[in-house]
Formats: sequence, structure tokens, C-alpha cells
Amino acid sequence: MFYSTAEDNHGLKFNPFKALIVPRPIGWIASVSKSGVPNLAPYSFFNAMSDTPPVVCFASGGHKDSLDNIEATGEFTCSISNWDLRDHMNMSSAPVAAEVDEFKLAGLTPAASRLVKAPWVAESPAAFECKLWKMIEMPSVPGRTPYIVVFGTVVGVHVKDEFIRDGLVDTASMRPLARMGYMDYAVITPETSFTLNRPMASADKLSATVVPGPWDGVYR
Ligand SMILES: Cc1cc2nc3c(=O)[nH]c(=O)nc-3n(C[C@H](O)[C@H](O)[C@H](O)COP(=O)(O)O)c2cc1C
Repeated sequence: MFYSTAEDNHGLKFNPFKALIVPRPIGWIASVSKSGVPNLAPYSFFNAMSDTPPVVCFASGGHKDSLDNIEATGEFTCSISNWDLRDHMNMSSAPVAAEVDEFKLAGLTPAASRLVKAPWVAESPAAFECKLWKMIEMPSVPGRTPYIVVFGTVVGVHVKDEFIRDGLVDTASMRPLARMGYMDYAVITPETSFTLNRPMASADKLSATVVPGPWDGVYR
């Protein structure tokens, strides 16, 4: 099939775009309002955009509470949601009023951050403390609220010690969740993750070879 996004003539039950950008990491964004109310919500238009300095971003469909709080305070955190926390993560997406604390609503514990006021999810295997770098308004479609991308510089990183093994973060054992299309999710597990060695170019840079088998521990 082919469809034009200008006409949206896909003929399917729902727009399939997000079902094709998969799996998307979920940024579980926590912020605090000017008056001190904690806020928590999942965002799957989320990713890292650089590692030096580390920068993450998420996109909000219009002015939601997270965006408003971050605009007002310049700070947020981003926790990893995993298999054990799937129902809590889902509940924290409820479109409740700004004065509702979604940590309480979802039965989660706010953990104090070290460098920002926003808490992180104490039950999460890992979290980032972030300072707002900039916000960018995305292109808009007539009659629809544009998305706004929030970029944050990561100023602190929490990783629970139990997930550090042999000097590496054992990401798969955290069982992180990922978002697919519709109401579909995926979970990363040790059984579904694998390693590859990076290819090395020949001296003349006209060909390349790969050490076969699993990662040999050399960062190429
Ligand atoms: C897994 C998941 C991913 C989501 N991703 C986004 C997203 O990328 N952008 C967005 O605007 N809303 C997204 N939502 C919806 C928001 O979480 C929801 O609108 C929430 O109420 C926003 O909360 P806030 O107003 O406290 O920021 C997502 C919901 C779920 C369950």
C-alpha cells in the first residue's frame, strides 16, 4: 500500500504512522508545578539526541501539564518504565487536572532528585535529572494543535546498583517497556536482546569486515 500524508488516504481503521516507528522508548517525565504539585506522565515521542553533552527530548501534543511545568521551572526528570511498572505507567497517563499528583494516582513513590526539584520514580530501575535547554514548536496542520519538542540536558543519572554487572549497565534485565502503534507495547528482555560487533573499515576504506559472533567487549 501507499498513502499520501496530505490526504491521509490509508483506508485503515486508524492512522498507521506510529505503528511503523517502533519500538519507541518511553520517557516517563516528572515535573513540579510553580505551586509545588508533582506531575508524572509517559511520552513516547521521546529519545536521546546526543551523548556529549547528554540531551533527551520529548514532544507534547500541545500544552499539557508537563510542558507547562517545565516552561515555568526549567527542570524535569525522566524515569525508565519497565514490565513491573506497566500498569502504573499507564495510569500516570490519565488526563487528570493539573492539581492531581500522578505519583499518588498511580501508586508510585517520588524519590528526591539531587540537582533538580522534580522527583523521579523510586520504583524505576534508572532515571535522568534534566534541565530545560530549549523548546521547539513543530510544523502545524490547520485546525490541529502543533507538537512542541522539549529538549533537556541531562545533569544527573541514577542507576540502581543491582542493574550494574561487570562494569556495564545490564539494560535488558531492567525489562524496559517500549511503545508501538495503537495500544501495543513491547518489552525488552535478556532473551530478546543481542549484541553485534561494529564493522571495521579496511586501510583504504573501500571495504569492511566484522568480527563474527557476540560482542567481544571492544568499543569500535
Ligand atoms: C505510553 C504512552 C505514551 C505517550 N506518549 C505521548 C507523547 O509522546 N506525546 C503526548 O503529547 N502525549 C503522549 N501520551 C499521552 C500523555 O501521557 C497524556 O496526555 C498525559 O495525560 C499527559 O500528562 P500531563 O498533562 O500531566 O503532561 C502518551 C501516553 C502513553 C500511555
